Amino acid sequence: MSNRFRNCVATIDLAAIRDNYRHACSLAPESRALAVVKANAYGHGAVAVARALQGVAPAFAVAIIEEAVELREAGITEPLLLLQGVNSAAALKAAARHDLTLMVHNEEQLNLLAATTLPRPVHVWLKIDTGMHRLGLPPARVDDVLAILRASSACENDIVVCTHLASADNLDSPYTKQQLDIFAACTSADDLPQSISNSAAILAWPASHRHWNRPGFMLYGYSPLTVDHPEGHALRPAMTLSSEVIAVREITAGDAVSYNNRWKADAPARIATIAIGYADGYPRCAPNGTPVLINGVEVPLAGTVTMDMITVDVTRAPGVKPGDHAQLWGPELPATRVAEAVATSAYELLTRVSARVHREYRD
Ligand SMILES: Cc1ncc(COP(=O)(O)O)c(C=O)c1O
Repeated sequence: MSNRFRNCVATIDLAAIRDNYRHACSLAPESRALAVVKANAYGHGAVAVARALQGVAPAFAVAIIEEAVELREAGITEPLLLLQGVNSAAALKAAARHDLTLMVHNEEQLNLLAATTLPRPVHVWLKIDTGMHRLGLPPARVDDVLAILRASSACENDIVVCTHLASADNLDSPYTKQQLDIFAACTSADDLPQSISNSAAILAWPASHRHWNRPGFMLYGYSPLTVDHPEGHALRPAMTLSSEVIAVREITAGDAVSYNNRWKADAPARIATIAIGYADGYPRCAPNGTPVLINGVEVPLAGTVTMDMITVDVTRAPGVKPGDHAQLWGPELPATRVAEAVATSAYELLTRVSARVHREYRD
């Protein structure tokens, strides 16, 4: 028997994720795509998403070892890349035990590999810092570092060299071309497999496509590009975040709604209260006017978002009553639109949907 009584649900369309993955592949037919399922698959549920992509995606990527172990324990046997690698001998041994592929992005990780005896060698991706300046070894170190890795008994000899782009979402920026040039220059002496593209680059920078691409955000149905782009049109949002109206009231002109009177009625109004709040991941900083759908009709947020509830102005949506369906984002109200109203990115909205929200899967 189900023990779910609250109708605050993130419904995940697994077929959409598979279709979005196939779209990423179709844009780069010479490449293979490793599905990025870090941060609980951007809030969609890492185990469910990885299982839905088994047999479709040949490999997965997560950020940290705990995420990888969760997938291994759930029976995901495909190659699994740890985008941040590991930072201790204990983590390195655990990674070897779970047959993980490790990013090596700094000298400390390189030394750790050289100094640790492992029961079996690990697969390694070497990350080069071509301009993101977050992780990665300097381009000038590539030849030396490759020599060290090749000499290390802890490292398999199927090394992949990679980098991460800082501004691929901005088609007007010259920065992506500069990063590609730096990458090409420092990897010209070897013929190792390479990886550069995130979602933005898969969609709009074909020159960055390599042996392995790394789509994340686009798998969940969104384009990260700052402008409308035809290749993004085929993507379908995979998450519908919904809840229900739990109260409706009439208020008079001058009445205020929610904490600190941030919304005031300038005429008689109807206010609906929806059972979702910032403890569920709905952004607390959402301003008045942020769009919400009730019964398919767009209505504006009215008043401060609270921990468990939001209030919306339904004066222009007659007939709204307790039990009615509210969509916070999904195919009919893209998370990118809500993100724009809130001045954040849809990456953040999706990944912050909290554990309190029940995930329901459709396939
Ligand atoms: C190294 C790396 N590769 C790929 C991705 C996937 O990026 P996106 O979600 O923009 O496709 C990320 C995400 O942050 C990342 O850190």
